[in-house]
Amino acid sequence: MTRFALITLLVGASITAFAQNPYQYTIQKTATAKNGAVVSAHPLASQAGLLMLQKGGNAIDAAIATQLALAVVYPGAGNIGGGGFMVLHLADGRNMTLDFREKAPLAGNRDMYLNEKGDADLTKSQNGHLAAGVPGTIAGIFQALPYAKLPFKTIIQPAIDLAEKGFAITEAEAKDLNDDKPDFLKYNTRPTAFVKEQEWKAGDTLLQKDLAKTLERIRDHGQKGFYEGRTAQLIVAEMKRGKGLITLEDLKKYQAVWRTPVSFQYKGYEIITMPLPSSGGVLLPMMMKMTEKFPISRYGFHSDSALQLMTEIERLAYADRAKFLGDPDFYPVPVNALTSDEYINQRLKLYTPGIAGNSQVIQAGTVPKESEQTTHFNTADKDGNAVAITTTLNGGYGSHTVVGGAGFLLNNEMDDFSVKPGVPNMFGAVGGEANAIEPGKRMLSSMTPVIALNNGTLAIVTGTPGGTTITTSVYQTLLNLIDFNLSPADAVNKPKFHMQWLPDQVFVEKDFPQDKIEALQKMGYKVVNRGRIGRTELIVRQADGSYEVIGDSRGDDSAAGY
Ligand code: GLY
Repeated sequence: MTRFALITLLVGASITAFAQNPYQYTIQKTATAKNGAVVSAHPLASQAGLLMLQKGGNAIDAAIATQLALAVVYPGAGNIGGGGFMVLHLADGRNMTLDFREKAPLAGNRDMYLNEKGDADLTKSQNGHLAAGVPGTIAGIFQALPYAKLPFKTIIQPAIDLAEKGFAITEAEAKDLNDDKPDFLKYNTRPTAFVKEQEWKAGDTLLQKDLAKTLERIRDHGQKGFYEGRTAQLIVAEMKRGKGLITLEDLKKYQAVWRTPVSFQYKGYEIITMPLPSSGGVLLPMMMKMTEKFPISRYGFHSDSALQLMTEIERLAYADRAKFLGDPDFYPVPVNALTSDEYINQRLKLYTPGIAGNSQVIQAGTVPKESEQTTHFNTADKDGNAVAITTTLNGGYGSHTVVGGAGFLLNNEMDDFSVKPGVPNMFGAVGGEANAIEPGKRMLSSMTPVIALNNGTLAIVTGTPGGTTITTSVYQTLLNLIDFNLSPADAVNKPKFHMQWLPDQVFVEKDFPQDKIEALQKMGYKVVNRGRIGRTELIVRQADGSYEVIGDSRGDDSAAGY
């Protein structure tokens, strides 16, 4: 069925509550709101969250509704077959972080992607049944649910409706589905909703009846509606058809975990983010503590000095990522040492102003791919509760494998492990022992959802997708706001850059100023264009308590509020 969808772009529209019309909707890049705000990668998902706020729900209700709706309307990254991290600030002052990252199946092992010659076979860690980790998203939702106010059946209903009755896809979604058609055909054992004979085009209706039934089972049976019973049986049957590893035991044992938040001071702000297995929880404090030692706001936004300092800080932090970081439940990561003043000072001795550093690589890594695969969203309510969630299937459409009869895509998160020491993953990142595959272990992530408080009051909610560029994008967004005094819209939309130690290159967005590229080259940097970096979502609480909400201009991202 195809219906015409009128999808328009509004910038700076005044906020009025509008009913969700899945066939005719607007992408709204900015919003100001007094009572509550949502910003996500898709307008219909933002509206699902907004609807919860309007029904009297809080930021947690809105976040859960948004996550579930994203699983329907943004299947490339929104998910129930993946995982993620949540940072939560409650108006009573509590800060919490929830880990619903995928895990390696119990039958997984460190050599599972090596061929008979001992070479890494990345096609298997990146696509198909064997690439999937045990999903965590639904367990995460049910861990967070006690902090929500509305009945779960109300929160999940927009997602069920969108799956059951369909919605009009955007031009970007049509392109992505067309581009990935060969992979959908290759990695599935049953027909999927994502493939049709003709090319997809903007305005076509995407119907996901099997997914609607899965969501109804979750509505009726809670967490068990996914990890046990019919859905679990469908997942395991799919694994058997495609030689995957996930078993009923893997599913039943999966648990989301509340972890102690990472919290540190930066120029009057308390920055709260996710600890390991998010590498962001180590890298962001390292990078910001290094930055604090320099008068960076005096250097100025995108000044030669600021660009070079930030590039070298990113290099120093990412070199440590490759060596030290992994799931702390399995590997003793020296987090305190890495973020100590003593260590930071010692690392900064390697920095020489005006001259490019050297990653001392023998072999260059591969160029990271385009980066919108993961997705981030924020919610905030009138009481000052806020949620930042980054959630992912890993690559776009994850493993490309849809669970037959259950209608949802499985992640390819196993590729975030170090498949073989020194072999770059799809983001060009290398790793070693700390991030080797072990049964039941969580793979290292870059996802860095952040909430910043000012004098104990909610100030900033942000995060982005982008694989290994996530932490550097969040770092730059925070500096843009705090040090360079950019407007929230500029903090999100001005071109970003990225250095991750290996490969020894500075990646810049397409619209990065040419004179800045030349300045970096003169200092000795190899500068590489990588299209776009991330899709940052941002909520800033203003002095009068209202929210300024920014959806990244790099995608269909859309702000909502009232
Ligand atoms: N899959 C991307 C990340 O977790 O960093």
